[in-house]
Amino acid sequence: MTIINPDQHGIVQATAQLKGGRLVAFPTETVYGLGGDALNPTAVARIFAAKARPRFNPLIVHVPDLNVAEKLGVFDQTAHRLAHYFWPGALTLVVPLRPDAGVSDLVTAGLNTIAIRIPDHDIAQNLLRAVGGPLAAPSANRSGAVSPTTAEHVASDFGDELALILDGGATTVGLESTIVAVEDDAITLQRPGGIPRDAIESQIGKKVEVAELVSERPNAPGQLVSHYAPRALVRLNANTLNAGEALLAFGANALTTNAQTINLSPSGDVSEAAVNLFSALRTLDKGGADTIAVMPIPNHGLGEAINDRLQRAAAPRPKSRL
Ligand code: TXA
Ligand code: MG
Repeated sequence: MTIINPDQHGIVQATAQLKGGRLVAFPTETVYGLGGDALNPTAVARIFAAKARPRFNPLIVHVPDLNVAEKLGVFDQTAHRLAHYFWPGALTLVVPLRPDAGVSDLVTAGLNTIAIRIPDHDIAQNLLRAVGGPLAAPSANRSGAVSPTTAEHVASDFGDELALILDGGATTVGLESTIVAVEDDAITLQRPGGIPRDAIESQIGKKVEVAELVSERPNAPGQLVSHYAPRALVRLNANTLNAGEALLAFGANALTTNAQTINLSPSGDVSEAAVNLFSALRTLDKGGADTIAVMPIPNHGLGEAINDRLQRAAAPRPKSRL
C-alpha cells in the first residue's frame, strides 16, 4: 500500500485501481473512507475482509451527484429537501433501494434500503467524478476501532489489503456523517454525526426521533454498541483522575495537564473538539495507559455525536476484542 498525492495523476492511478476491483482510501470532510466499486461484488467483499467487518453491517455508498443517487434509491419529498439543503455534506440518507440499483447485495447487507451521501471534499469529488459511479466506503479503520482522520491513521491500520491511500491531510469535521432514514416522509436518526440534529429539525420543521441502539446483531442495522474503541478502557464523565490514567480533557478547567493529557478544546468549543476527538484517542492510546478518563462534554451541537462515539468507546467490548 502506498500513500500518494491526490493530484490529477493520483486520481488517475486511484481510479484505475478502483476499476480493477481494488481498494483505495480517500479523504472526505468527515473521516477517511475505505473505497471500493459498489457495483463490483469482489471489491465490496474485499472491504468487509480488510476491515474484518460483520457482513450484517451495511455500507454507505458515496456518489458524485444527485442523479447517481436517484439511480440507487427512492427520494421522497423529505429526502429531496434534505439532499438539496445538506449535500454535498456530512449527511447520509437511508432511503428505499431501487430494485434496479445494481449495487452488490453485500453493500446493503440484503436490506431493502440503501445509505447514500455526497461528500463535501474536493479530492473525494474528483475521485467520484473520475470513477463516474458509486463507491462503497465505510470509515477506513478496522471494524470496531477508532476512525481515521489522517492518511497516517489509515496506514497504521492496514497493509496490502489497500492498493493506495490518497493523502488529503487532516479531515475538517472529524466525526462521521449524521445518518437519517427517510421513508414515506417519516425520518429517524440512525447515528448522530457531523450535521447537528437541530440543523436537520429546523430544515424539515419537525423533531427527529432517535432509532434505538442495538447491542448484538441488528435486524434493522443501525449501530453496534461497542465501537470506536481504543485499546485502553474508556471512563466517562471523569471529575477526578485516578493514578496512571490518561486524560481526555475539555474546556478551560482541565483536571490536570500532565504529559498524558490532551485537551479537545481549551475554549470549550464542541466543533473544535469533534475535529480532535479520534486523533486524540489514538495518541493517548499509544501512550500506553490502561484507562483513558474523559471529562464531561456538553451535549449541544456536535456534542451529541461526540458523546455517542465516547459512549460506544466506553461500552463493554465483545470477547473478540478483549
Ligand atoms: O462520514 C461517514 O459516514 C464515513 C465517510 C467515509 O463517508 N463513513 C462511515 O461509514 O462512517 P461506516 O461504514 O463506518 O458507517 C456506516 C453506517 C453503519 O453504522 C451502518 O450500519 C449504517 O451506516 N448503514 C448503512 N446502510 C444502512 C441502511 N440501509 N440502514 C441503516 N443503516 C445503514
Ligand atoms: Mg465506521
